[in-house]
Formats: sequence, C-alpha cells, structure tokens
Amino acid sequence: MKITAERSTLRQTKTDAVAVFVLEDRKLFQQQIANLRKTTKIRVDQAVDLEEFKGKDSEILFVHTEKKISAPRLLIVGLGEAKNLTLEKFRRGAASAAKRARSLKAKHLAFQLPDMPNGFSEPAEDVSQAIVEGAVLSLYKFDKYLTEKKDKEGKVAAIAVFDPNETNVKRIKKGTNAARIICEAAYLARDLENAPGNEIYPETLAAAAKKSAEQYGFTATVWNKKKIEEEGFGGLVGVNAGSVRPPVFVILEYKGSDAAPVVLVGKGITFDTGGISIKPSANMAEMKMDMSGAAAVIGTVEAAARLRLPVHLVGLIPSTENMPSGSATRPGDIIKHYGGKTSEVDNTDAEGRLVLADALAYAAKYKPAAVIDLATLTGACVVALGHHATGMMGNDSRLMDELKTAGERSYERVWELPLFEEYEKQIKSDVADVKNVGGRWAGAITAALFLKKFIGNYKWVHLDIAGTAILEEDLPYAPKGGSGVGVRLLIEFLKKWKVQPTI
Ligand code: BES
Ligand code: MN
Ligand code: ZN
Repeated sequence: MKITAERSTLRQTKTDAVAVFVLEDRKLFQQQIANLRKTTKIRVDQAVDLEEFKGKDSEILFVHTEKKISAPRLLIVGLGEAKNLTLEKFRRGAASAAKRARSLKAKHLAFQLPDMPNGFSEPAEDVSQAIVEGAVLSLYKFDKYLTEKKDKEGKVAAIAVFDPNETNVKRIKKGTNAARIICEAAYLARDLENAPGNEIYPETLAAAAKKSAEQYGFTATVWNKKKIEEEGFGGLVGVNAGSVRPPVFVILEYKGSDAAPVVLVGKGITFDTGGISIKPSANMAEMKMDMSGAAAVIGTVEAAARLRLPVHLVGLIPSTENMPSGSATRPGDIIKHYGGKTSEVDNTDAEGRLVLADALAYAAKYKPAAVIDLATLTGACVVALGHHATGMMGNDSRLMDELKTAGERSYERVWELPLFEEYEKQIKSDVADVKNVGGRWAGAITAALFLKKFIGNYKWVHLDIAGTAILEEDLPYAPKGGSGVGVRLLIEFLKKWKVQPTI
C-alpha cells in the first residue's frame, strides 16, 4: 500500500474518496458542517439536517461531490464527543472510512488532517500515525490462497493525509512514515500467524526472520536441531520429539545502542496439536497461530530497526511443532532444561512453557536490562480477559507500568494478573523441580509461575496473548484471525524506553 503525506486543500486533493473528521458536539458539529458547505459548495446531505448523521464514533456519511471539488466522493467521519477524543477514535474512524472506501471501489483515499479541538493535545504526528494505522490495518486480508473472486470487493491501494500548511505536512510525514513501517511489521506478523502449518513451520519461520533481517539491517542467527541439543535445550527438544520437522532456535539482534539489551522472547509453536495429550478437533486449526509470540518478536525487531530506535534489542524464538507420534514426549516424562533445572511433563499440551523455559534461562546470558516474553500460552487467559486485553505478569512494577502506558496509547492493552506465591504449590512436582500444569484454577497464573522458575536475575514481564493474538471475530481494524498484537505495543514501549539500573 502506498502511504503519503501531501500538501493540499480539501478542494484540490486528487483522490477517489476524501475523508474529513467531525465531532459530535452539537455546536462544533454544526460549525464544521457549515464550514464544509461554505468552502466546498457541496450540498452535504439532508441526513445532517434530518439528524440522521450526528458525527457519532466511527459513523460515516457518504456524499457525492458532484464535481464541486476534485474528489468525486466525500466521506464525513464521526469522532464522537470532543471530551472523549483519543488517538483510538481516530484509528476507528479511519478504519470505517477505509472499509467504506473499499466497498465504494475507491482505489485512493485521502484524509484531511483535522483541526484539534480545545483540550485535545495530541501532536499532528501522532494523529496522522493513528489515522494511517486505523486505515491500513483495517484493510488487511489474508487472501493469497484464494484463486477466485479476489478483486470483487475492491482494493484501496493508496492512503494519504493532507494539509495546506507546509509545517503541518512535515509533521504528517513523520507520522505517516512511522505508521507505514509499523503497519508493514504488523502485516508481516499477521501473515506469519495466518499462514497454515504446512507453510510456516520452524524452518520457514526462521527463513522469514532471516529475510527481514537481511532486508532491514539486523542479524538473525538460526540454530539447528544438533546445536539445540548440544546447548541442552531439553524443553525445545522434548516438545519437538513427536514431529518429523526439526526445531529451530532463532536469535535476532538489532543494536541501535550500546546499552544492555531488552530481550524479547516469543513462543514459536508453529502448530499445537497438544501432542499425546491431544486436543479435541474443534477449533484445533486455530493452533496454526500458536507462533504469534514469535511473529510479534520478528515484527517488533523489524520495525525497531527500520525506525532506527536508539535501543539494543535481542529477539529469542524457540520454535517447533507439537505433534503426537511414537517418538513423542509422554505424560510423566521428565525434561532437563537449559541451565539444568528439571520439569515433569504432566500434560504434553502445556508445551509453550517448556520451550520458553529454555529461552528464558538462556536470556540471562545477555545481562539484559529487561526481558519480555510473548506467548499464546493459556486458554485460561482467554477465559479471564477475552480478546480485549493481554494478560500481564512479572517481577517489576515499573516495567509493567511502562507497558500499561504503552498499551493504553497503542490500544493493545494489557492487564496485570497476580503472581502470589500461594499459587506456587499447584505446580509442585514430587519427581522434578516443577510440574508443567497446575490444575484447573488460575491457569494463566500457574503458567507464568512455571516460567518464573527459569528466569535469571533480571526484570521480567510475561505477556499472555492467547486471547488478543487469535481473534474469533472482527475488531474495528483487525479482521478475525491473527491480529499481529504486540508489534504496536512494544514499539510504543521502546519509543519511551530508557535503561534503568538493574535489580
Ligand atoms: N496454545 C495453547 C493455549 C491456547 C489455547 C492459546 C487457546 C490460544 C487459544 C497452549 O499450548 C495450551 O494448550 N495450553 C493448555 C494448558 C493446559 C494443558 C494446562 C490450555 O490452555 O488448555
Ligand atoms: Mn498446548
Ligand atoms: Zn500452545
């Protein structure tokens, strides 16, 4: 998709559809519409006078401009009330405009940079970024395997944000450039998630990471099965035991500063059948997205490198399928992880924590300033928080606060669950250092407490993205399927990141 910042007026903008934002507050609304009628001479529908269109959140009024301005179509986009205005309202408004433009078969859509109401202090850069994010992310489709009726719905190929003022155009440019990079990274994450298990398996996941690294100037090192065994990654080897496809361990590094790194760890289970503790067949296909943590890590490192963020980033991805077979790990088997700790595999479907344990123990080698893992780890987290918040657990409240702030701003929100020590007895094992399941209750928490056993002396946050990465229904700018969650959250977090003294 082509994304541009343009110096232009509403009347002159050459595009198939032009979009302007309006607020719902009566007075402001009427002023804006009067202004629009005056400057463009467009009649603007009776829908306004009859109060059918009021400028509510994401509401759209479509008007033919009858050659009064250069663009043949005008989309008036509601933002709701001024006092509730946020960047998210711009994303959602832009998303509904983009989807409408697509159904109108417009190929080019241009947004007028809105006047900001009193009391709304977001800079033009960030508003432009939000507009492009909402529009571009809402238009995502995973259609590469469709051989028929691909173009029936139309395709928006270009998005612009414009303003007549040169200084504003510079600001818009910053925002739209950032948005392009971030959206392309989120698209990459979504493509990797949505790709079926016969396309994306450990070796092809590693190849995708390598391709991004070569293209955008960071490094990707791929360990093969032999190396993984030699290094003693017993969790990754154990989960892989039933698969005919070998595992990989991928190490990404982007050195935008000499400081201690932020290490991102992503669960890369390219298909989770459950193994010998096999899952029921209903919805099992969703488990092609069990590598969403890995996708988020690849997308984030790519975007950080392209944005040249002044941070040192390391990405660690343990990746394998979880398959049942004669060679698969059995319930009751005991695994020795990297670093020497052991775990009892009571349920082979709790495989994510087994591969993450090795990677988290290995992360200590980097003397990291912080470690953040992302994993579609538990169904229990989906039960607790649904699809609108990522479960967050960790050992450092400052780091968690920073993620919470980034989550609200990017609207990839996180919500903390407690790691009270009382829960720990649920994962006690009689035969190994820890057991890989903790019974029926508080499953998201006992999974995190399992991970906690393997972390080093570093600040750590675990993000359970099981609900937010795998969508069963469309959201305003994320169609059902893989959401690419984590990329926008982490980029927002890294933009503000400053190394703190280690604990
Ligand atoms: N990948 C799943 C978790 C999951 C479930 C993600 C549904 C997204 C949607 C994970 O490997 C798993 O199977 N977890 C088990 C753990 C249980 C055996 C303790 C679960 O949540 O049922
Ligand atoms: Mn599983
Ligand atoms: Zn899994």
